[in-house]
Amino acid sequence: MLDLVLAVLHHLLILSMAGLLAAELVLVRPGVGGPSLKTLAVIDAGYGATATVILVVGAGRVFFGAKGSAFYLENPVFWAKIAAFAMVGVLSAWPTLAFFKWRKQAKADLAFAPSTDEVARIRRLMGLELAVFALIPIFAAAMARGYGL
Ligand code: HEM
Repeated sequence: MLDLVLAVLHHLLILSMAGLLAAELVLVRPGVGGPSLKTLAVIDAGYGATATVILVVGAGRVFFGAKGSAFYLENPVFWAKIAAFAMVGVLSAWPTLAFFKWRKQAKADLAFAPSTDEVARIRRLMGLELAVFALIPIFAAAMARGYGL
């Protein structure tokens, strides 16, 4: 039963994380400013919180799941998945810092909007983040089927 609950939570959290990233990509466009920057900050905080809970639930699946921790910890495909997850975390730092900076500037100047170049740079980083994110379920599916062992 615990295995099922953790699996359900894992899937729901993954969907939420992907949805939040997609929402950020919709908002981060040339001309973004004003109330959208506040929405972006809230979404980004939710994104970070969701990723943290995924890590906790994922670790729960490793240690309390039906297959036993050795099934994962001894599999390089599991570690590739974790590396991709960590990479997503590292890549997400730049957008988060940019959103903080934009929000601060918007508080000082109501008409503030980040430059087109800066928006394009952050969008490129988010695109890369999305590409690395897409690798995670690929590694997950392989690892769940024992590939790499
Ligand atoms: C955004 C991050 C993540 C995504 C997109 C993701 C995706 C997935 C998917 C799609 C599965 C189902 C695989 C299948 O049954 O075919 C899965 C299973 C699993 N994931 Fe994750 N995962 C993420 C993060 C994590 C983390 C951080 C951990 C560990 C700390 C973890 C541990 C596990 C475990 C133990 C399973 C069970 C595999 C099995 O059934 O044997 N996941 N994950």
